[in-house]
Amino acid sequence: MLGAMSELRSARWFGGRDLPGFIHRASLHAEGISRSALAGRPVIGICNSWSELVNCNLHFRALAESVKRGVLLAGGLPLEFPTISLGENLMKPTAMLFRNLMAMDVEECIRAYPLDAVVLLGGCDKTVPAQLMGAASADVPAIMITGGPSQPAWFRGRQLGAGTDLWHYVDELRAGRMSEAEFDELEAASTTSYGHCNEMGTASTMASLVEALGMCLPGTASIPAVDAARVRAAEATGSRAVELAREELRPSQILTVEAFDNAITLLMAIGGGTNAVIHLLALAGRVDVPLTLERFHELSQRTPLLANVRPSGDHLVEQLHHAGGIRAVLNELAPLLHGDAVTVTGAALADGFAGAEALDRDVIAAFAAPLAAEGGIAVVRGSLAPDGALIKRSAATPELLRHRGPALVFEDIYDVAARIDDPALDVTADSVLVLRNAGPKGGPGMPEWGQLPIPKKLLEQGVTDMVRISDARMSGTAFGTVVLHVAPEAAAGGPLRAVQDGDTIVLDVDAQRLDLDVPAEEVARRLELLGPPAPKYRRGYGALYLEHVLQANEGCDFDFLRGRGDTEPLGLLTGWIGGW
Ligand code: FES
Repeated sequence: MLGAMSELRSARWFGGRDLPGFIHRASLHAEGISRSALAGRPVIGICNSWSELVNCNLHFRALAESVKRGVLLAGGLPLEFPTISLGENLMKPTAMLFRNLMAMDVEECIRAYPLDAVVLLGGCDKTVPAQLMGAASADVPAIMITGGPSQPAWFRGRQLGAGTDLWHYVDELRAGRMSEAEFDELEAASTTSYGHCNEMGTASTMASLVEALGMCLPGTASIPAVDAARVRAAEATGSRAVELAREELRPSQILTVEAFDNAITLLMAIGGGTNAVIHLLALAGRVDVPLTLERFHELSQRTPLLANVRPSGDHLVEQLHHAGGIRAVLNELAPLLHGDAVTVTGAALADGFAGAEALDRDVIAAFAAPLAAEGGIAVVRGSLAPDGALIKRSAATPELLRHRGPALVFEDIYDVAARIDDPALDVTADSVLVLRNAGPKGGPGMPEWGQLPIPKKLLEQGVTDMVRISDARMSGTAFGTVVLHVAPEAAAGGPLRAVQDGDTIVLDVDAQRLDLDVPAEEVARRLELLGPPAPKYRRGYGALYLEHVLQANEGCDFDFLRGRGDTEPLGLLTGWIGGW
C-alpha cells in the first residue's frame, strides 16, 4: 500500500503496489491528476444531476465547482460524475416512473467507484429522493446540497409560486374569467430563474426534510437558488465531505428511526407535499427502518402547522428563509424532535438549530400559537382504500373533510380530458370525482394527476373545490380536497377498479375513513368480471418497473431494492501480478 492512503476506501483502488493499483492510478494520471494529488487524500465524488433537460438543476455545474473548491480546501480530491436526471415537467409519463432507475444509477456509481465520500447535488422533485435512496443503499459517507428555490416571479403585482398560482389561473381561464392573452402574459412572467419550485411543493419539502434527516448542513435547505449564500454553502458542504470520509460517518448511522420521526414532524409543520410520504417510505425501506403510513398519521396529529407557505399558506420559501428558515422551524418544534439524532455534521440535530429564532411570526408561527393544531397530512383507509390513502388536509376545504356523495368515475386521464368540460356531464358540487388507472402500475409511474380539474360547468357556477379521489399523486404545489395514493391501486386489483357511477362514497377524515358504500360481495363480483388489467409495458425498463414496483403505502420502491445492500463492490483485487 502507498503509506497514508491505507485507511481510505479509495486506497483499495489506488494504494496497491501491484498491477490493479498501477492501472487505477494511471487512469487518473490520464486526467492530469498526479500521484501526490492522490496520496492520502480522500476522494470525494460529486454526484451531479445537472441536465439541460432539468431547468431546476441548471446551476449545478457552477455549484459543483464550489463543492470542488471546498473539497480541495479541506485536503480532498474531488471527482465529479453525472447520473441520469429527472425533469419534473418534461419527462413523460412522469419523472416518478424513473425515480428508482436514478436511485439505482446513483447507488451503483457510488459503490463501484473509488469514492471515500460523496456530495449529492439534487434539486428537482425526484432527484433528491433518488439520490438519497441510492446513497443510503451504497452506504458510503454522503452529504447533500440541494439547489434552492427559484426566484419568485411577479404577475400583476403578486409574487407567483411556481405551481400553486398556475393551478388557480388555469381555473380562471377555464371559467372564462381570464383571457388567453392574459394567460400568455402569465406564461411569459412565470419563470425567472433556475432553482426548484419556490413554494412548499415536493422539491422544497424534500430539501427541508433532508435538513431534518440530518443529511445536509444546517440552514442550507431554504437558501434561494440565486443567493451567493448557496454557493458558499456548497463550498462548506465540499469541505465537510472530506471530514465525513475521514470519520467514516455513513448514511446508515444518520438515517435512523429517530431521524425519520424528525423528518415527518417537520413535514407536518411546514404543510409539506404528499409526495414526501412516498419518498420517506421508500428511503426507510432502504435502511430497514420500519415506517408505515400510520406513523405519519400519529405524528401529524401531534404536530402543529407552523409554516405559512403556499400551497397551505400565503408566502413562498424565500420568505420562509428570511424568516429564519428550516432551522427556525425546527427550533420551534424542538419539544417534538429527537434533538440528539446525529447528522452529517457529526453533531446532534439540536446543535444545528439551537438559537435559530423565527424572525417573522406571519411566516413561522410560534409552537404555542400555531396556524393549525394538527399537521397537514392525514391518512384514511376503509373499504375503498384497504391499504390506505392520503389527504393534505391543510390544503383542503374544511367542510368537505366529511362528505358523502355519488361517484363520478373517470376510467383514466384521457377520459378526464375528453369529458371534464362537457356541458352534459352529470355532476353536481356534491359529486365525488374518481380517477383510476393512475397509480404506480396503472399510470404508469403514478403521475401527478390527482388534483382533477373542477368540471367547467361547476366552475362557472362558482364551485372552487370538491372531493376528488384517485390512485394518483398530486403536485406538492396543488391544493383542494383531494384524496390520493389509494392503495391498492385499480391496476393492482384494488376496489377503486370496481367503483361505478352513482356508487356512494363516504369520506370522514377525522375518523380516518374512506369507504365505498357497496356490499363487499358486489365489489368482489365486479372485480371478477373485470379480470386483470393489461400491463402498460412489455419490454425494457417499463416491464421491469411493472414487475417489481411496490404500492404507494410502501413507497413505490422496487421490491428487490429494499433492505441494506453491500457497501463494497465485487472484483477488487490486490497483489495481482505481484507487488512492488
Ligand atoms: Fe423542478 Fe418543480 S419542476 S422542482
